[in-house]
Amino acid sequence: MSHGGRRSRQGHAQASRSVAGLLSDMGAGLQARPAVPVQLDDDRLFTQFVSARGRRARGTGWAPALAPLSMWRMTSEQAPVLWPLTAAQGLPPTGAQMGIDLLSGGAFYCDPLGWVKDDAIGVTNPNMFVFGKPGRGKSATVKIFCLRMMDFGYRVLILGDTKDEYEGLCLALGVEPFAIGHGLPARVNPLDIGPLGGGWERLDAAEASRRASIVFHRWLMLIRGLVGSQKIGSESVPFGPSDETAVSSALRFLTGFTHGGTRLREVTVPQLWAALDEPTDQLVNECRFASPRQFYDETRTLRDALGALVKGHLQGLFDEPTTIKPDWRAPIQSLSLSRLDKSGDGAVGIALLCLNSWGQGMREIAERGDVRIVVRDETWKQMRLGLEPVKTLDSNLRLSRHVGDVQLVVYHKPSDPLSAGAADSQAVAIAKDLLHLADIRVLHGQDKAVADELADLLGLNAVAQQLVTGWAMGGKGRALWTVGERQFKVECRLTPLERDLTYTNEALRIA
Ligand SMILES: Nc1ncnc2c1ncn2[C@@H]1O[C@H](COP(=O)(O)OP(=O)(O)O)[C@@H](O)[C@H]1O
Ligand SMILES: [Mg+2]
Repeated sequence: MSHGGRRSRQGHAQASRSVAGLLSDMGAGLQARPAVPVQLDDDRLFTQFVSARGRRARGTGWAPALAPLSMWRMTSEQAPVLWPLTAAQGLPPTGAQMGIDLLSGGAFYCDPLGWVKDDAIGVTNPNMFVFGKPGRGKSATVKIFCLRMMDFGYRVLILGDTKDEYEGLCLALGVEPFAIGHGLPARVNPLDIGPLGGGWERLDAAEASRRASIVFHRWLMLIRGLVGSQKIGSESVPFGPSDETAVSSALRFLTGFTHGGTRLREVTVPQLWAALDEPTDQLVNECRFASPRQFYDETRTLRDALGALVKGHLQGLFDEPTTIKPDWRAPIQSLSLSRLDKSGDGAVGIALLCLNSWGQGMREIAERGDVRIVVRDETWKQMRLGLEPVKTLDSNLRLSRHVGDVQLVVYHKPSDPLSAGAADSQAVAIAKDLLHLADIRVLHGQDKAVADELADLLGLNAVAQQLVTGWAMGGKGRALWTVGERQFKVECRLTPLERDLTYTNEALRIA
């Protein structure tokens, strides 16, 4: 550009205007360059002046030709007049600095709540979905995002660390994660009432009923997901309207809500199952069954599915009142599920389902300014369980509306929810619905075979698909970030400390 300018200045010396002239037409003048006095201290770092070409000696970086640089000095308001076509960094430099935006060459910052507040960016919720093949750097991106957002007062909640990979980050921050596993004392009650149950006796009737409907809905979605995760042959156990009535009524009885109790009693899944397995006459009437016999017949699969869970995956983990006491003021809290790894993906999926629902409950009330990043890594394990567990996740995210929470979900492919059931239209609709819950998507590398679903489910064009299946596969931490309608080609950069904290190939290193 500077060359062209110089040539044209020579060629049309009379006709063309100077930069100063052009700017003055726009109502601004060029600033004079202030004289900077050169100060030489005795302890100065460089004792000798070197010409711009460097020193002419081997290994000193001497350049035979100078780069064709031209220097201009003007305000940022004036610069666009002279360089109108330069690609600019489209997002403001606020929030966590994540790495380089390769399209503009500038730094890339991620600030979900800031983006929601800025109408020009077109993001309506601060939730983030992170996709990518295993080993592409999804978890590392999540960890450094969390770490760098802590500087802005964000706290972090890890809802299920299935491989203990967040442990290093927690310990570096002086926090011990809670370990959940068979034979360990920690219990999480997925039917925990949560902070909404606090001070129940002081609530007026309207507020009590508003809160009760939130809590009962959360519980119902959990039980629906748990029951739907069970299989008869290859089919999921159905959860119909009669099942819903039976579960809701039983929960209302057990908590004492039916009788207008001054506080809600804590209920566990085994208690719910027992209440359904040996129903009182009152429960049978409430559900409008003619006789206990009919109740038994209509709820058999429900009772059997719950019974299997109570004696199986929930036992010793999620079947008693909550014993852990998270410190909500600590920078990070994490629930480790790595002890369940040997029990298989199914057990881990059920545990994630329980923790997700519990985590939603914990965030139903929060103090002002208590902003939190809620991380759900390896969520595909929950999605594999069936369509009902996917719907439970959808509801957890939809209802986690505490202002200031960033819901961060990590899975492999946009079609993961479809692996749950047949890829029929209902499943596709659910997968798409889930995607609508996040306006920010981080797409790490994927195999070529995934290109079609990137187009169908995410609406990516050919250029963007190529970035995900080609360029992003060429390096860890490379991802296409879609922020509302905009796309950014970002390479995340780790500091040496962060590289240690995010290292996940421990087993390989030892081997
Ligand atoms: N941006 C990056 N730069 C350098 N190394 C990275 C980057 N992102 C991830 N890694 C390394 O790659 C490995 C796998 O990353 P990880 O986040 O566990 O992948 P995923 O969660 O996608 O399976 C880790 O050891 C991590 O330290
Ligand atoms: Mg990971």
